[in-house]
Amino acid sequence: MTTFARTVLPSTASVSAGSRARFFNRLTRREILLLIRTVVIPTIGMRTRRRLLRKLAGTAAGVGLAGCSALLEDEPRKRESPLNLPTNPNANRVPSRQHAWNGFSRSDSEGNPLLPRHHLVLLLTLSSEPSVEAARRVERAMRTLESAYDWSSDGLIHILAWGTQYFERLDDLDAAPIHRPTVISRTDDPKLLDFDAALVLGSDAPSHIRAAESAMFGGKGSLTDIEVGDRLSDVFDVEERRTGFRGAGLPVEHTDAEGIPKSPPLSEKDRMFMGFRSGLRGTQASEDHVTIDSGAFAGGTTMHLSHLKQSLDEWFEAFDESERVARMFSPEFSPKDVAGFAHDVPFTDAVREHARKYDVVGHQEKVAQTRQDDQPVILRRDFNTVDGGHAGVHFLALQRSLSDFERTRKAMNGWYVRDDSRKITERKNNGILDFITVLSRANFYVPPREKRAFPRL
Ligand code: HEM
Repeated sequence: MTTFARTVLPSTASVSAGSRARFFNRLTRREILLLIRTVVIPTIGMRTRRRLLRKLAGTAAGVGLAGCSALLEDEPRKRESPLNLPTNPNANRVPSRQHAWNGFSRSDSEGNPLLPRHHLVLLLTLSSEPSVEAARRVERAMRTLESAYDWSSDGLIHILAWGTQYFERLDDLDAAPIHRPTVISRTDDPKLLDFDAALVLGSDAPSHIRAAESAMFGGKGSLTDIEVGDRLSDVFDVEERRTGFRGAGLPVEHTDAEGIPKSPPLSEKDRMFMGFRSGLRGTQASEDHVTIDSGAFAGGTTMHLSHLKQSLDEWFEAFDESERVARMFSPEFSPKDVAGFAHDVPFTDAVREHARKYDVVGHQEKVAQTRQDDQPVILRRDFNTVDGGHAGVHFLALQRSLSDFERTRKAMNGWYVRDDSRKITERKNNGILDFITVLSRANFYVPPREKRAFPRL
């Protein structure tokens, strides 16, 4: 404890409400702030800290130091250089937005961005309460990843996102742009998960992902030629691992997984287990569109992660290609139409008419109803998985507000066509719902790079 604190702080046992008020009355604003910086903040946990700051602010206001209450409340969030670290040496090589991947990844001949071929999401729990020292370690660890690999799918792309459990710890979930996941579709009973953080890694080279994981959570001493100092394991435990892939030739290598028939009509060209092509640029929100544009969380975005299990026997065995096109896109399209879509899928906004006329509605036409000014509102970065030995999808979606995701998912539920066709049920003839089951959901905030270590600490 500093000399200042020893001199001015009355022993806690002797502090009654009246004497606390008299005590604060004698202090200048500067002294109160100094007291908080030197005594309160270093010694208590984050949750308690926020509560105590609010109480102190109340007391200060009660004794006529109204200006102090704002200072007390905001003080920990307004630090100019929160971590007191040297400038990020990689700052000129990497974008400020952690979710800015498109300009740094490969694209096809039509200019559609291609996701990295391999993915890993580590779902993390803090091993101790948030602190500035832990934040410094996390930032230094993330800089090691950045220094070791180019920010591209040839190198390594990553996101450190913060979950509902973290904001609960800060007692700040109400102010955060995320909330605990909810059940959004009546047909599913997913686990609703809370994590402190998620580390998302993507690369065309699986060896880069393995090395990065081992440097951050194992004993690997160097990454490329960069020495590993701080590791994320100093601060986090890995709660769950989600692995997967996305790209031509990869699904066909994994057809021994459960949920896929013996000889599915998948070729080396297919990028997803259900066939077809996903992620045409006209069907995706732009990175700008999903970026939060003002307020304390500006420059970041929200991330939803769900695990979908796929059951594709009927998909491939009961339906021919036209029937699959009707369910994936719309009954107004033929396989030839779909093969011709280069960078967008035309959208006629006729889902209910299609239900009446064809007794089937497509996945894409349902979710496209949430477009605003013909712009999609979510940016999908989902990938295939065989986690648990079962075919599936880790559906990772970025959006400015989680409500954009939830609206889209509700549009996908298709409840509004039940009066239009008796043959369309909650799952049957209702897009792709009969072939997927949602196993879990979790929500995260993705801060901009400069604030990626313990945002709002
Ligand atoms: C197994 C799971 C899924 C598969 C295989 C799948 C596949 C597809 C395909 C092939 C398209 C059309 C082409 C394109 O993306 O460019 C599409 C579009 C889309 N999907 Fe999915 N999807 C899946 C799950 C979901 C989920 C869970 C959501 C969100 C709730 C979703 C939201 C969208 C959106 C917003 C579009 C673009 C709509 C537009 O054109 O505006 N998808 N999906």
